[in-house]
Amino acid sequence: MSRRMLVVGNWKMNGLRAQLADVEAIGAVAAEHPAVEVGLCLPATLITAAADKAGVAFIGAQDCHQKANGAHTGCLSAAMLKEAGATQVIVGHSERRTDQHESSADVAAKALAAKAEGLQVILCLGESLETRDAGEALPFVLNQLAESLPQGAAADWLSIAYEPIWAIGTGRIPTMEQIAEMHGGIRGKLAELAGAEVAAGMRVLYGGSVNAENAAEIFALEDVDGGLVGGASLTAAKFGPVIAAAS
Ligand code: 13P
Repeated sequence: MSRRMLVVGNWKMNGLRAQLADVEAIGAVAAEHPAVEVGLCLPATLITAAADKAGVAFIGAQDCHQKANGAHTGCLSAAMLKEAGATQVIVGHSERRTDQHESSADVAAKALAAKAEGLQVILCLGESLETRDAGEALPFVLNQLAESLPQGAAADWLSIAYEPIWAIGTGRIPTMEQIAEMHGGIRGKLAELAGAEVAAGMRVLYGGSVNAENAAEIFALEDVDGGLVGGASLTAAKFGPVIAAAS
């Protein structure tokens, strides 16, 4: 089954209105590469303004609450993000699993809350350096997948992002063999959990220090269907070559 490449920028806690010019420029690059689905997951404060500027690129959010509404000070529901202009949302990023103590059960619930509002979901997985060094990366990530995968997972609304924590923002990436092993393992586990058809259609992205220099090699791997990109997604000058590498 052919899977359309998906390249998503995660701006994390970066971006003020002045950076809407970068959103517009990235949208223009995306228009040059129609074979690639391109998006930017932005701080929620920028979503509405960015949705007007992004052109063919979609605008997404970086998290949503698992509940539809209620007494959850500072949190945003999937309906709020959708109304603001988001069409996708990241759930389970390692920075939130660590900083906000989100469990895999929380992550699965967030994914379902987003799906209920018609948002597409990018579900993140990844091991720590200790786990990698202990030789436990593959079983750890596959267990995290089993615990985080929402009921009814399907390729038309869910993508997976493998992001080794030790590769995020460090300039270090796994070897191509390590990435290939993990992505193949994730696809095999998806087949076991959700069926062969879902596994064949679901996009599995790589994230962690993706940049203009390494993107082509990573994206050429058979089970890598695109990337989730942090630092190198903040400007069109940096993100453009990553998008082009997927095309
Ligand atoms: P970097 O590309 O900055 O390493 O960040 C990766 C990431 O965490 C994207 O979600």
